[in-house]
Amino acid sequence: MKIISVVGARPNFMKVAPIHRAIQEYNEKLSSQNSEVQKSGNPIIHKICHTGQHYDEKMSKIFFEDLELPKPDYYLGVGSGSHAEQTAKVMIEFEKVLLDEKPDYVLVVGDVNSTIACSLTAKKLHIKVIHVEAGLRSFDMEMPEEVNRVLTDRISDLLFVTEQSGFNNLRNEGVSDEKIYFVGNVMIDSVKHYLPKTENSKILEKYSLQKQKYVLVTLHRPSNVDEKNQLEKLFKLLNRIAEERKVIFPIHPRTRKNLERFNLNETISKNIILTEPIGYIDFLTLTKNAELILTDSGGIQEESTYLGVQCITLRTSTERPATVEVGTNQLLGTDLELAEKTALEVLSGKIKVGKIPDLWDGHAAERIVEIVNSES
Ligand code: UD1
Repeated sequence: MKIISVVGARPNFMKVAPIHRAIQEYNEKLSSQNSEVQKSGNPIIHKICHTGQHYDEKMSKIFFEDLELPKPDYYLGVGSGSHAEQTAKVMIEFEKVLLDEKPDYVLVVGDVNSTIACSLTAKKLHIKVIHVEAGLRSFDMEMPEEVNRVLTDRISDLLFVTEQSGFNNLRNEGVSDEKIYFVGNVMIDSVKHYLPKTENSKILEKYSLQKQKYVLVTLHRPSNVDEKNQLEKLFKLLNRIAEERKVIFPIHPRTRKNLERFNLNETISKNIILTEPIGYIDFLTLTKNAELILTDSGGIQEESTYLGVQCITLRTSTERPATVEVGTNQLLGTDLELAEKTALEVLSGKIKVGKIPDLWDGHAAERIVEIVNSES
């Protein structure tokens, strides 16, 4: 069996890494079986295609190193552009790969433009599509990721969900139960696997941060950073928090560009450390040791819930409701007064106690490989 997995943007790398590892382990187990005994399956040929949606060293290369991912078999080098341009370029280049490789499955993760581009290309060539992290819904079609999620799920053949809501959403959309598998969360597989490595990270020393005494911030959603007024308001909130604690904010290229475009750099408190985007292990170290996280990311809501770290999500909706229902996440929308009040409460000790959602146990990728194998 041949599978081509797609990675494109930063949040994809840590989801494909455990799948690659699980396939390798499966192949090793298979080859170690006594040849006289009938082998219990066929080896899986796994190839990785990087679309090049993210191309900066700090957004891509460092993740391959940190996550011990092999050099991709294909690099499409599509780069930035409008949504249509980026999606179209990925489709054109990925079609050539598929015609050449003729895989049995294309495996896509998450919800970025590369996810929909590659699943659509595969489906049109009658190649089966596996969607890992299926079924998540924010119900906000203004988010490009929601469009990508809904459309990818519609054409996927095997849908692996991370939480019960994913199962319910897909069922409500008419996806038949046989295609849906609740397997847990590959993102958490990576957190669990790489956590020991955070012991060697020097990131706290580098920025003179003390464990449990700083606030970690990430903001990059178009709805938060593409409009001057909103970005200005968010920095007012961060400046207020910076009166209480050191704040560290690794800045995404989109946010960096907008801070310059709107001339906001001068308004930022000296107690806010703005850094370049940070690699996987160092970022995990920052997440694990933070007193509080403020974010608009998807994955960080999950990582903080798993690690039991307080998280305030500055968005009106979340496609990951388990992080709010059972985890440490608080969804506070665009009400920045409420966000300020809540953040200050957390810093004074009023925390939200959370639990780890079902099956977020570090074994999601193994379950996926087992199921794909039994389906083929
Ligand atoms: C993409 C994903 C988003 C994900 C985010 C994580 C889509 C629709 N969105 O958004 O879901 O949370 O990645 O980072 O796929 N840029 C660089 N260097 C890079 C990559 C991007 O400078 O390596 C710049 C681009 O030129 C552009 C901006 O960052 O100006 C946005 O990049 P883009 O890939 O279009 O979307 P993201 O906002 O990163």
